[in-house]
Amino acid sequence: MLKFIEHGDRSPVQGAYCPPAPKPQPRPLQPLALIRTLKRNPLECWAAQHFERPIVAGGLPIGHALLVHEPGAIRHVLLDNAVNYRKDRLQRRVLSAGLNDGLLSAEGEQWRLQRRVLAPMFARRTVMDFTPAMLAAAQALVDRWSGLGDRATIDVAAELARVTLEVLERTILSDGFGSDAETIRIAMATYFNTIGKISPLDILGVPDFVPRLGRLRVRSTLKFFEAEVDRVISARRRILAEQPERAPNDLLTHLLQAQDSESDDHIKESEVRSNILTFIAAGHETTANTLSWAMFLLSQSDEWRERVEAEVDRELVGPAGGIADRLVETCAVIEETIRLYPPIAAISRVALDGDDLNGERVRPGSLIVISPYVLHRHRLLWHRPDAFDPRRFLGNARAAIDRFAYLPFGAGPRKCIGSTFALQEATLVLAVIVRRFRFELKPGHPVWPMLRVTLRPANGLPMTIRQRATEPQPGLDAPRNPIDASA
Ligand code: HEM
Repeated sequence: MLKFIEHGDRSPVQGAYCPPAPKPQPRPLQPLALIRTLKRNPLECWAAQHFERPIVAGGLPIGHALLVHEPGAIRHVLLDNAVNYRKDRLQRRVLSAGLNDGLLSAEGEQWRLQRRVLAPMFARRTVMDFTPAMLAAAQALVDRWSGLGDRATIDVAAELARVTLEVLERTILSDGFGSDAETIRIAMATYFNTIGKISPLDILGVPDFVPRLGRLRVRSTLKFFEAEVDRVISARRRILAEQPERAPNDLLTHLLQAQDSESDDHIKESEVRSNILTFIAAGHETTANTLSWAMFLLSQSDEWRERVEAEVDRELVGPAGGIADRLVETCAVIEETIRLYPPIAAISRVALDGDDLNGERVRPGSLIVISPYVLHRHRLLWHRPDAFDPRRFLGNARAAIDRFAYLPFGAGPRKCIGSTFALQEATLVLAVIVRRFRFELKPGHPVWPMLRVTLRPANGLPMTIRQRATEPQPGLDAPRNPIDASA
């Protein structure tokens, strides 16, 4: 049976649970209110018309903007005429963590070369080889929780940030970071909290040389990450030069050895570091938030908790190979989670030339905003858009979803390179947690979606955990080197 929780803003649709979400503004906000709300929580800016109309023009205090939530028009911007739409300055700055020459923010030939070199490292085959590393990180998490005793209350959001960092550590830099992961996690949280706040100066288009207080604070944290990663890279280079047979078979080794298949170019030294940091920046919080929201949603739905429990009890005792493919309902919960709470809640582009989108004029310089959050709750595209219902992602229902109506990972040439990695990781980690624990939200804790670079639960997610199964789970006792493990 589905439970209902009171969150005041939206009434539940009959027979389904509608998780907390801001009530759309009755009409678009005026510039000053918009700037104030953007600073507090950009998710609260959206107005009813954005969820009801395919394209809405204007509404931002900078230049001409089109808010586009119609699959055909989105396909045109992100795929068919993608050459006319560049990633915009504001989004690049906020999302790329200041890493200008990493894949997330590179443009033109530099981006094309990097994408070609990096794509095989995130191909399905390689990602499947990471299964043991992902399971081992999840296992370490549940073992740690077991040590806390029955009915412990923990901040699940912080714990999941730790496990996703550990997965990245085991798959990218399998000899680990220079400092302990906890120090890095704390520094990273500070960093994201600061850089994630959009400065009103950014919205007004004030040039970069005007200092933003937040960014000044971030500089030392960014330097700290860079120093840590540099240390690991130098150590690996030494091993590759002196005893290549001892080099771990992980993403860093691949990156250092990577040669462009079409020409003879290596990616540059500085690009290796930027991409390591980019993967951590892009893959850490996004997947941690996915897992937090999934645990929250499962804690509110007895039906889906029972379905996932039954699936993991059945499937997690089999061989490790292909586990993620067998966890069909767990994966549907993850996909529904990132429909309701897409970690990257807005994708934006700037038009280079004039164009036409479903009869709306695009001017050179127009800003195109596509919000997966709005798109995934659009009244014209989804049945009961605000309700939690993972059935949408099972069998024929999944196949019927328009490719351009569901964009948690974007689309077109710049779609997320880590999507297969992230889906597999989130499915496996959730499965291992559910196999071992049942969890309940701490009574009275207000859960609210807050956009700070990624869409996260404001005020963390305190949950009480209770042991379910304690017997060993085959396939989870993975060696540290993921690719070797599967060989
Ligand atoms: C649930 C987890 C994740 C979500 C929701 C997510 C979402 C996205 C989205 C929406 C984009 C496209 C942005 C745009 O078009 O403007 C993107 C790009 C990217 N993501 Fe992810 N991501 C996730 C996990 C990861 C992971 C695990 C990695 C790497 C380890 C990663 C690395 C990247 C990179 C490098 C890009 C830039 C690709 C390019 O421009 O060529 N992401 N991601």
